[in-house]
Amino acid sequence: MKAVILREFGAPEVLHIEEVPTPSPGPGEVLVEVHSVSVNRTLDLVVRQGKYPSDIRLPLVLGVDPSGVVTAIGAGVERPKVGERVAVVSMIACGQCRYCQEGEEANCINSRHIGVHRWGGYADYVAVPARNTFSIPERLSFAEATVITRHFPMAFNLLINKANLQAGEWVLVMGAVGALGSCGVQVGKMLGAKVIAGAGSDERVALALSYGADFGVNYRSQDLAKEVMRITNGNGADVVFENIADPTLWPGAFNSLAWAGRLVTAGGHGGGQVTLDVKRLYLRRMRIIGAAGTNRRDVERSLEAAAAGKIRAVISRTMPLREAAAAHRIVEQNQIVGKIILEPTAE
Ligand SMILES: NC(=O)c1ccc[n+]([C@@H]2O[C@H](COP(=O)([O-])OP(=O)(O)OC[C@H]3O[C@@H](n4cnc5c(N)ncnc54)[C@H](OP(=O)(O)O)[C@@H]3O)[C@@H](O)[C@H]2O)c1
Ligand SMILES: [Zn+2]
Repeated sequence: MKAVILREFGAPEVLHIEEVPTPSPGPGEVLVEVHSVSVNRTLDLVVRQGKYPSDIRLPLVLGVDPSGVVTAIGAGVERPKVGERVAVVSMIACGQCRYCQEGEEANCINSRHIGVHRWGGYADYVAVPARNTFSIPERLSFAEATVITRHFPMAFNLLINKANLQAGEWVLVMGAVGALGSCGVQVGKMLGAKVIAGAGSDERVALALSYGADFGVNYRSQDLAKEVMRITNGNGADVVFENIADPTLWPGAFNSLAWAGRLVTAGGHGGGQVTLDVKRLYLRRMRIIGAAGTNRRDVERSLEAAAAGKIRAVISRTMPLREAAAAHRIVEQNQIVGKIILEPTAE
């Protein structure tokens, strides 16, 4: 099969397409013929650069979210069946730790990732644990299924499981045009909340409004907390969907919180170090809640919502697998809107 092999860390040029033996599925695994896989800044690019914070063994095939058709099954696999269209979730929970035992797989303390710790989907075929596959509803394309399963489960996890967002509440979504932020806007609307989108330029605020946000604030040119208080008639945002942790943006987001508000976060690519006003936190009875990982029920929820047309994948463009290096360059250089999808079956 063809696969893009990472043999050394570095610039996009280190990604080369090669002929390698097609893997065979081990016990409990299935072989998937890959149709779509996305290029992710916070996983693929970071791993390629050698900056991922855990040991990576080379050679490696990147690709955390392949979607495709099952072509073979290993011993003991009851589902999926050969011929089934499946999306793959990257996180492999250990099944042993306290959190796995309690059914909270997202909190697993020994998790591994497809496309990071074992070969992923930048290839014609990928072998994955059957448990990591999810049936793709008929009306979704492979590319849509890839994007839906990659980004929406965390938005559901943060807004439902962590923030307990209720219909009619106010939610402020930071980075509202980013991959996770755009999901936050859509999930917030789906849950019946009133959504305020925060973004870094007027054009990006307008885009967030096109994804369904009710109000928008440019947090680089406006006083965010003041605007949120004005929009919410002094209430503030019951929930802030943060995920940036930029020291200059954090105070605006934090000060936008309502009395007893909840700030949820699963990201820190704005630096991660911020100043916390602890007095405001406790006097106003607020909570800050962190999350990581993927729950199966959030993946199922995401696919169901997409099949029902309640949420949609934002896709920038599709490219053939052999253009993986070019795709990485685009993601690295531009602030593109939506995902770039690699398609091994395209010429
Ligand atoms: N995507 C997921 O499914 C997922 C899941 C779990 C965790 N995370 C984490 O969540 C965070 C966001 O991921 P993402 O995939 O949504 O990234 P992304 O697509 O790059 O979007 C991040 C957004 O944050 C805004 N931003 C503000 N300050 C920034 C700064 N200093 N550096 C970079 N962006 C800044 C940018 O919008 P403006 O220019 O408009 O400000 C950008 O659109 C990451 O830390 C990631 O690891 C993501
Ligand atoms: Zn575990």
